[in-house]
Amino acid sequence: MKGIVLAGGTGMRLYPLTQVVSKQLMPVYDKPMIYYPIATLMQAGIKDILIITTEEDSQKFRDLLGDGKLWGIELQYCIQDKPRGLAHALIVAEKFVANDSFAMILGDNLFYGQTLPSSLQNAVKKESGCTVFGYHVANPSQYGVVDFDQSGRVTSIEEKPVQPKSHYAIPGIYFFDSQAIQFAKNVKPSKRGEMEITDVLLQYLSEQQLTVEIMGRGIAWLDTGTHQDLLVAAQFIATVDNRQGLKINCPEEVAFRNGWITAEELRNIAQPLKKSGYGEYLLNLLEELK
Ligand code: DAU
Repeated sequence: MKGIVLAGGTGMRLYPLTQVVSKQLMPVYDKPMIYYPIATLMQAGIKDILIITTEEDSQKFRDLLGDGKLWGIELQYCIQDKPRGLAHALIVAEKFVANDSFAMILGDNLFYGQTLPSSLQNAVKKESGCTVFGYHVANPSQYGVVDFDQSGRVTSIEEKPVQPKSHYAIPGIYFFDSQAIQFAKNVKPSKRGEMEITDVLLQYLSEQQLTVEIMGRGIAWLDTGTHQDLLVAAQFIATVDNRQGLKINCPEEVAFRNGWITAEELRNIAQPLKKSGYGEYLLNLLEELK
């Protein structure tokens, strides 16, 4: 299975700084935001990844991440001219997707939890249709919202409803077969002028090819749409990191644990970062796991 990370623009500029640097390149505690969704795909076992960016940010992502070989993965890049919507990004990725199934993750979404890798790996195993998740949130109207009947059948999917029918938001990780591209081409821009991903999901639903799994309480899903969200996400990552001495979504660690890079390669990454806690952490891993 292939993977796509959506790190294009949203039109929303958070800080003066985001005039010159993409939000997804800014740090969330100890690493750039883009590391988190990449590490999530890597935990699902996905190595072949396309990063979609704006034209002005493209080179900065390449400078940071290169071709992915350092992490034992393969990164490609492509450009979305304007933030025309998540469904539009699928069309941009058409060539990369070809006839394969793929996971798409939003560059500003952070996932963490013990059961996460296994639920992602289950979604990877499905060869056809679409799998998304339902996650209970306090403020559903900021998201795509899914509602169910008593038997658990999906009865509606709505993008940012003013009066949400349920508390279940659809987080920004989607597993699709290659039909998604055709479905995306059928989508017309919404009132906010974007080609909405929920309109792709509705087409899977009407073909009875949509699976919605509940992401339970044990999983943390954070998005970083506002200043407050960013702070909360950084505090969450720091709290877990400081308490457990374990890093959240550290791509180098995932690569090493997956057997995608050798101890030698991990040491080479860690050495220049030795004076930061990050490099030290990677070197300690080598000691612990030998
Ligand atoms: O966070 C989950 C939510 O993400 C879902 O519940 C919604 O159904 C979905 O529409 C989306 O809503 P947002 O309005 O929060 O998406 P946003 O515009 O913030 O974009 C999310 C990421 O995708 C962000 O990292 C930028 C990137 N993006 C966005 C657009 C619109 C692109 O790369 N291209 C785009 O055209």
